[in-house]
Amino acid sequence: MRVLVIGSGAREHALVLALRRDPAVSALIAAPGNAGIAQHAQVRPVDAGSAEAVAALAREVAADLVVIGPEVPLVLGVADAVRAAGIACFGPSAAAARIEGSKAFAKDVMAAAGVRTAHSEVVDTPAELDAALDRFGPTWVVKDDGLAAGKGVVVTQDRLAARDHAAELLEQGHPVLLESFLDGPEVSLFCLVDGETVVPLLPAQDHKRVGDGDTGPNTGGMGAYTPLPWLPDGMVTQIVDEVVAPVAAEMARRGCPFSGLLYAGLAMGAAGPAVVEFNCRFGDPETQAVLALLDSPLGELLFATATGTLAEAPKPRWHSGAAITVVLAAENYPARPRTGDVITGANDASTDAAAIVLHAGTSQRADGALVSAGGRVLSIVGTGVDLTAARVAAYDRLAGIKLPGSHYRSDIGLAAVEGRIEL
Ligand code: GLY
Repeated sequence: MRVLVIGSGAREHALVLALRRDPAVSALIAAPGNAGIAQHAQVRPVDAGSAEAVAALAREVAADLVVIGPEVPLVLGVADAVRAAGIACFGPSAAAARIEGSKAFAKDVMAAAGVRTAHSEVVDTPAELDAALDRFGPTWVVKDDGLAAGKGVVVTQDRLAARDHAAELLEQGHPVLLESFLDGPEVSLFCLVDGETVVPLLPAQDHKRVGDGDTGPNTGGMGAYTPLPWLPDGMVTQIVDEVVAPVAAEMARRGCPFSGLLYAGLAMGAAGPAVVEFNCRFGDPETQAVLALLDSPLGELLFATATGTLAEAPKPRWHSGAAITVVLAAENYPARPRTGDVITGANDASTDAAAIVLHAGTSQRADGALVSAGGRVLSIVGTGVDLTAARVAAYDRLAGIKLPGSHYRSDIGLAAVEGRIEL
């Protein structure tokens, strides 16, 4: 099977490594890829947001399967174009990708499916803002109503900070979503979905705030770990039965069945799981940890999802133990990350060590030096017999990497190790 992976982050690097382990995958092409992915796959340039360009590339490289990593191409209909070219595609149609691309659509689907989620209101004009803020908070949850890679979210006790963020979004012409605050530890549950068949992967937890102890602004995610020792047995099944399967069924009923990876972001409150958000693709950085524990051939699972045969495919098998990923971010991330700094100590293409380095915002300079090229620069993935061992592996590997001005969280998975997460 010839597989084309679309995207350029550490999530796509993790997908490429897991696909490379599948003996049925005979060729791996990534577009546009990055400097790390280029060590494991043939890398081709592409405008990932252009449906025509991706479909043309898929034909040119004779892909049997196209795997689309990021949400933007999915929302723009790239998967539709690939399927129209007669090539199997892992990723939802534009109509189904609205579950992430349109918060109003997601709320409507959840209401119809009877799924618990935050109460919300869309604010379109500054004139409505103050009265709407008075109906929420504290705590205020202010979101960009479009795609914002996690960085459009402000969760704050401070009404003025909430107002400033909402006013800034409105000034940029973005409608604002105000939501009631959902309490409880967060879970990211990724499910392979083909129409109404739902197959969950291991549950993970992201760390969205930039600083240790969940301080500072929200980011795209600073680290994640899996599995979750504090999550009760049976909870994954409960989430599938109460949340993901009803949403998949409702989308099929509306004529926009979901095919691909449906990511449920949940808050585990006293009344049970409630949806914070749905995403239409693998999450970043959780994927880097989840796929590190996957024992099954990934190509087989993704091809079965893409071709509507998931119900007949073997269930995913997992290695025992735990995995964590720690994101090394550039100076000033998430505001205005500095790029162009030289990275040393990251150039190790080995994939069977207890810790590996996945590339996100990196590029190779003309003189061969590896330099930073984005906000989240690297994902260091550690595995071990338990979360403590996985943390040691990841942070030991991270200590050998140098990037001027960079920062990372030192507490990924720590609250779980110390038993500080309570439901
Ligand atoms: N981990 C957050 C996201 O992928 O959106």
